[in-house]
Amino acid sequence: MYIVKRILELQNLLRQKASIGFVPTMGALHEGHISLIEKSKSENETTVCSIFINPTQFNSLTDLEKYPVTIDADIEKLVAAKTDVLFLPSVEEMYPSGLENMPIYDIGYLDTILDGKFRPGHFNGVSLIVHKLLIAVKPHKLYLGEKDFQQCLVIKRMIALQNLQVEVTTCPTLRDEDGLAKSSRNARLSAEARAKAPLIHACLVSIKDNVNTTSFQQTQQNWIQKLTKNGFDTEYILLANADNLEILAEFDESKKMVVLIAAFLDGVRLIDNLRIN
Ligand code: PAF
Repeated sequence: MYIVKRILELQNLLRQKASIGFVPTMGALHEGHISLIEKSKSENETTVCSIFINPTQFNSLTDLEKYPVTIDADIEKLVAAKTDVLFLPSVEEMYPSGLENMPIYDIGYLDTILDGKFRPGHFNGVSLIVHKLLIAVKPHKLYLGEKDFQQCLVIKRMIALQNLQVEVTTCPTLRDEDGLAKSSRNARLSAEARAKAPLIHACLVSIKDNVNTTSFQQTQQNWIQKLTKNGFDTEYILLANADNLEILAEFDESKKMVVLIAAFLDGVRLIDNLRIN
């Protein structure tokens, strides 16, 4: 595996490649990331993974500082998965003019709901770095995990707004045996919190299972109470149209639906989602 830190070097390396698949990450790699690499490898001549902890998408310095860094283990996993190229740029390489006066992306409605509402500026930072990475890597295909459901829609919007020629493939969320969605942030959970964390997924499954018997609002209230009793601080449990994230007050079988959750446990922000139909 080539490990490349400079954009120019990366572009020289990739110049002749017929098809490039790209998996952007912030490291602390787990099986979810590796499944994206495997998908890309099955569809492209060359697979590039980037590891870059992007400072402009963190709306709290503490969150940025606590983000797990496991670069040696990440490299081992990428080598084992036969990744062709790891792009490992510095902050200076990606932001040569510093971190002030960042361009603003017209994310629109998607920036006013769910994580857009609770993490102001987050999706602008995501749009900016993914735009920069796509310019650097110039992939034919981009692979994203559905665990970050809203992020997938935001990135698709940025790609459309910028007229970028890249095909986006979203891949299913991978879970531990107890249902907890694989996430780099799980590493920060204490043993006690880790034991409680699967309640997030249990909540989504219970909402899905009760679609014909209980109103969404009733199950939502029951689960907020249950999560609070178990030490969670719930930001949202919301039902939305899976195509555009229009928030739905109640189940509506005429639409594709997804239920999304964000909650803090032990100071760690966990998100998850589940398609209902
Ligand atoms: O999902 C992530 O890990 C990040 O938001 C991404 C897409 C790599 C951009 O920094």
